[in-house]
Parts: sequence; structure tokens; C-alpha cells
Amino acid sequence: MSITTGDFRSKVTASTLFDKKSKREPITCLTAYDYATARLVDEAGIDLILVGDSLAQTMLGYENTLPITMDEMMHHTRAVRRAVKRALLVADMPYASYHIGIRETLRNAARFIKEGGAEAVKIEGGESRGPMIHRLLDAEIPVVGHIGLTPQSVHRMGGYKVQGKTMRDIEQLMRDAQALDHAGVVAIVLEGMPREVAAMITAEVEAPTIGIGAGPDCDGQVLVFHDILNLTFAPPAKFVRRYGDAGALITNAVKAYRDDVKSHSYPSDEESYHLPKEAQATLEIVNSRKRTARK
Ligand code: KIV
Repeated sequence: MSITTGDFRSKVTASTLFDKKSKREPITCLTAYDYATARLVDEAGIDLILVGDSLAQTMLGYENTLPITMDEMMHHTRAVRRAVKRALLVADMPYASYHIGIRETLRNAARFIKEGGAEAVKIEGGESRGPMIHRLLDAEIPVVGHIGLTPQSVHRMGGYKVQGKTMRDIEQLMRDAQALDHAGVVAIVLEGMPREVAAMITAEVEAPTIGIGAGPDCDGQVLVFHDILNLTFAPPAKFVRRYGDAGALITNAVKAYRDDVKSHSYPSDEESYHLPKEAQATLEIVNSRKRTARK
């Protein structure tokens, strides 16, 4: 069966993303962290599903992405894998899973592919990751790069700050993007940078760029599932557009359930199981005999 980028149902692969870039068809990407939401996201026709390490915050309540472990990421990746049929599934390598040494990096990345069912791994960082990306590709592990505002560098950056505002930083970002491109990444996430810089990078590299807080000129866009649905308990960043209020929906549903239980209006007779007629008649006879015996 041939795969075309226009077919809504056909499996998305790395080459689909390159085709989309060449045809200037926007690539859609969202995060998902569990079976139910991953199914909804996949069935809605999103091209790329990222099990982002942002799940440290959105799902597990950590303050930033640094504490999340390989085992926690694997647990969520496996759940998402069971749901996703069409989208390209990418798993984020957590902090310190690819920073210590190449053997450990390869072992951890291979776990995402072999045990987690991911089709690519994402790592943060630019130029300096080139040799590591070559080793990962040698091990048949496709890689998505991620440059600009890289949340795992929060301490080095001194907070979550838009990157690439000076000529020196722009030149470094350009070198980073080119190094990832030459290394052969499947895509490059451009996070938190001026739209002009993201546009320059997008025009310069062959790999598709996926922006988040990087303006409209990237080859695709990614957002965090919890951000677009108001499930973050915090004011949204400037680039977030809210497409629904699942926070209010859930709160209202839970309060209505609580009130129904307290007022005895849940469950109703229609929401209850009943005995078959004959068993009901027999039970009535038994109960009435018991009542008579007690008199
Ligand atoms: O972890 C994540 O969700 C990400 C995206 C924001 C790109 O890295």
C-alpha cells in the first residue's frame, strides 16, 4: 500500500514529515501521556504525538522536568503506544538519561524503541549532540532535536527565557540547527525564540522544524495537551491558545456527581440492577415467611 501525505488515515513516518515540509503542508504535533488522551489525539488526526517530559509537571506534579526518571517516562510511553495507530510516536529522553555517557545513552534510547514502542526519541541540545546523534542513528534509533528554550537547561539559562535575541545567540542557534540537520534528525523542535529566527532556521535546514513559542513560519507546531485544555493550574504562556476548558468541565462534572450522591439522587432506580421477576417473587415469599415467623 502506498503512503501519501494527503491521506488522513495513512501511517505517519519520518518521510511523511519531510514530504509535508517540501509541500508546505503544516505538520501537527501534540503531547499525550496516557492511553485515553493519546487515542483521542491520534483519532483526531494529529501527525506526531510526543510523550514529552513535560509530563513531569502536567501529570506527576513535579516543579520542572528535571526529576522525571527513565522508568516514569517508559511507563507513560507504553500506555501511549497502546493507543496510537497513525501518528509518529516520539518519546522524550529525560534529563540525565543521555548526559552521562554514550553507552548509557544508547541503552536508554533503545529501551524507548524496544520496550516503549516509540518510533523516535527526542533530545535537547544542538551542536554538541552531533556525535551522539550519529551513534543513535547507527543503532537504528531516529532522533528529533530540540533547541532554543530547552527546559532541561533551566538552571543554566537562569529560568525559562526566550532564546536567540542577540546576534551571537542567533548565530549559535543557527549552528545548532545545522549540526542537527547534518547529523540526520527526523525533525527539530524550535522552542521559545523570536519568529524571525525560527523562520531563518526553517528556511536553512532540510529537516522539518516544529515550533512552540517560535511563531508561524515553522514547518509545524507543537503544544502541550494540558495547555490547550486548561489543565495546568497556571496562567498560560503567551504562545498558548486555549481550545477548550477541560478544567471547568471536569470540576463541574465532579461537583454535580458529589451533589447527586449527597442528595440521594444518584443512583436512580434506572441506574440499578434488578432481580429477574421469578427470583424477585421467590425472594418476596421468603421475606414474608421470615416476617411471619418473627411475629
Ligand atoms: O516535553 C515537552 O512537552 C516538549 C514539548 C513542549 C516540545 O518538549
